[in-house]
Amino acid sequence: MESGRVTMDRNADAPWSKFDPEVYVDLNYRTPLEVDLLIVRLMRDHFSRCYAGAVPDSARGVDVGAGANLYPALSMLPWCEKILLLEYARPNVEYLERQISPGGLDAAWDPFWDVLRAAPAYRDVDPGARVSEIVRVERANLFDLDGQRRWDIGTMFFVADSMSECPEEFQRGVRCFMNALGEGAPFAAAFMKESVGYRVGEHQYPAYRVNEDRVRESLEPYAAELEIHDLHHMVRPGHEGMLLALGRRNSEIATP
Ligand SMILES: C[S@@+](CC[C@H](N)C(=O)[O-])C[C@H]1O[C@@H](n2cnc3c(N)ncnc32)[C@H](O)[C@@H]1O
Repeated sequence: MESGRVTMDRNADAPWSKFDPEVYVDLNYRTPLEVDLLIVRLMRDHFSRCYAGAVPDSARGVDVGAGANLYPALSMLPWCEKILLLEYARPNVEYLERQISPGGLDAAWDPFWDVLRAAPAYRDVDPGARVSEIVRVERANLFDLDGQRRWDIGTMFFVADSMSECPEEFQRGVRCFMNALGEGAPFAAAFMKESVGYRVGEHQYPAYRVNEDRVRESLEPYAAELEIHDLHHMVRPGHEGMLLALGRRNSEIATP
């Protein structure tokens, strides 16, 4: 009799040090997908609504598990004095360092900027110059965010659901992200729907299967004005679309 698989891939077990950012960009972003452009538009409009056209004085932004994706950071650009890209995998940290160096922003991110600059707040920003001026990269583990450090605006794209197969690590990922946001902070978080894991080059990475209800349940304790967009676009076999959650951090105190 064939025995079922009983162990679950935990975050610490996945080959993060082998993550290939160039292959990942080729797979996901080099040819922009309609769904990503739609996500960028929804996020742009959400942040524009939250700030109602008034640029805050000294907002600090964070993109957690930034990986090889610059569009969440670009979406925060007009609103922030500083943006931190927090990432665990060393090859991705090196990729991000190259992207934020003067003149380093890859043309692959232009189509995403084209969507952003259709909104007034983005129009006069020079993305390449501003990225190298205000964005910094830090190698860190999302699980080490314990509520001590807080940001004014934040994003987390395809991370809590795409880092482990364990339900408790998904919950912990969402909790650590939300506890890194100050009261009232606008946020955007994206999840692959019903993902069974993903391959980048030669390596396989784990995922925890989420649907709209699971995402809502995980975010609700921390969020105000929560809206979840169920985007039925398939990027590859092995998932059923994407979920985009938009909202603000509520006023509840951090949950341990
Ligand atoms: C599917 S990728 C998403 C990357 C990017 N945010 C995007 O939108 O394409 C998952 C990312 O989570 C990062 N990651 C995995 N475990 C992490 C951890 N414990 N702390 C911080 N980042 C982690 C990976 O290195 C990878 O960059």
